[in-house]
Amino acid sequence: MIPNTLDTPGGPLSRPAPDWWREAVVYQVYVPSFADADGDGIGDLRGITDRLDHLAGLGVDALWLTPFYPSPWTDAGYDVSDYRGVDPRHGTLDDFRHLVRRAHGLGLKVIVDVVPNHCSDQHPWFAEALASPPGSAARDRFIFREGRGPDGSLPPADWKSKFGGGAWTRVPDGQWYMHIFSAEQPDLNWENSDVLADFEGILRFWLDLGADGFRVDVAHGLRKDLVEPLRDTGGRDSASLNSPTEGEDHPFWDRDEVHEIYRAWRKIIDSYAPARITVAEAGVSAARLPLYTRPDELHQAFNFFHLRCPWDAEEFRKVIDTSLSGARAVGTLPTWVLSNHDVVRHRTRYSLPQGIDYRAWLSGGGTDPAPDDALGHRRARAAALLTLALPGSAYLYQGEELGLPEVFDLPDDALRDPMWERTGRTTRGRDGCRIPLPWTRSGSSHGFGPGGSWLPQPDGWGEYAVDAQTGRPDSFLELYRTALSVRTRFRGDESFAWLPARDGELAFRKGRFECRINLSETPLPLPDGAVLLASDSLEGNMLAPDTAVWTAVTGG
Ligand code: NOJ
Repeated sequence: MIPNTLDTPGGPLSRPAPDWWREAVVYQVYVPSFADADGDGIGDLRGITDRLDHLAGLGVDALWLTPFYPSPWTDAGYDVSDYRGVDPRHGTLDDFRHLVRRAHGLGLKVIVDVVPNHCSDQHPWFAEALASPPGSAARDRFIFREGRGPDGSLPPADWKSKFGGGAWTRVPDGQWYMHIFSAEQPDLNWENSDVLADFEGILRFWLDLGADGFRVDVAHGLRKDLVEPLRDTGGRDSASLNSPTEGEDHPFWDRDEVHEIYRAWRKIIDSYAPARITVAEAGVSAARLPLYTRPDELHQAFNFFHLRCPWDAEEFRKVIDTSLSGARAVGTLPTWVLSNHDVVRHRTRYSLPQGIDYRAWLSGGGTDPAPDDALGHRRARAAALLTLALPGSAYLYQGEELGLPEVFDLPDDALRDPMWERTGRTTRGRDGCRIPLPWTRSGSSHGFGPGGSWLPQPDGWGEYAVDAQTGRPDSFLELYRTALSVRTRFRGDESFAWLPARDGELAFRKGRFECRINLSETPLPLPDGAVLLASDSLEGNMLAPDTAVWTAVTGG
């Protein structure tokens, strides 16, 4: 854990390193599903504060809180109607202050989400825009255009929403507005000076309240090519979440102009001490990702290449090399991510055949093919040791430390993701990775809270609970706890070198320890070295398939 302040009750702490984030482990708290103190079935800030000991005990350095701002909840909080408040379902600003104080007291940093690409259609600006005529200043904060065709009844361009359907919605006076996501999430116009100024104020607001940084939602989408006539994309916009095609000059993804925004933000961030950070959610090509983390822009960017990498030694090696060289070229280190609230949980992904389309599999009911859970279990444990050994910062998604699988059999009427309705109930969205956490084997919603839970917890959920895993040496939770404590002992040396490896094996040295992972189907004899930790048993001195081991370099 990293000290946050210089003077803490109980004695002075060492000065926080200005670059504490380079090798930090950040735990993603998906606020609606972490812990619910008030019993309304939806997670809240007080619930998180009550459970901070779990995070401190796990050994993470920081938590990232997903949006908890006032929101009509079309997209579970990623549709913000007031950027400077707390939604009553999640608590109050005082609850936020208290959470930050308590987290800092435990040596934990607190990163909040900023959602700058779009707001909610219930935001006062959008209400004002709708009440104002075409061409007005109020409309200019959004992207309003006339439609095509003789009566303007066709959308201004063929752009598609990432949640299905078109990216334009018509208003009663005949104009259309743009939304990359749902119609209730109108895109803001980042060429408008009100928008720029307001977000600078929003950043300062949360920094002044003690936030240690921001996760930037859809960081690659803010600037659009709005030169008339708008260019069609030919449908190349929404094949999957955040995956623009490399190298294309796309009208709304990954445009060069977006970097001006982050240069301005960085100046604000750097005016605060101790050091605050920013991390980009930017689904861009590996060649373009480092541009977001140049020294005068954002600090980090999520590494979705690692998340998407097939279970294959050569593929991982390529991703690791590309990530390290890209990050180093701009003087930083990569992040490593296996799961988040938008993707099928990795335990389940690893239990399915390579190359499968996970969302299609989910939409088909999650039974064809049936997941091989024992395989997913082994691989998820090995992947944790791989991820936590690599140089850079690791982002853990809540529940991965419990080995939670995707819940793929939620009843239709329980689904809340807008993707479900916007695709005419054909694409099951992201609810299955957002099921409220189990804290206790039994009791009301397995300790999530005194009420129910906004998404149903399936039978057997209690077996994954924190109390069911605590003290059980073979549990996921104890693996993560030990891995994080070993990682902390070895932190500080960023050096990385590949070691000679056998077929299907990854082997590397990171600072003073070595990591080996067997991705082949054959057991491999264990090399020399004192074992620090293994993801599974090393019976007969062999590294079994889908197993990882950390060993100390002699003298390390
Ligand atoms: C990315 C977020 O992670 C996702 O949950 C959200 O739906 C979209 N951005 C829109 O804000």
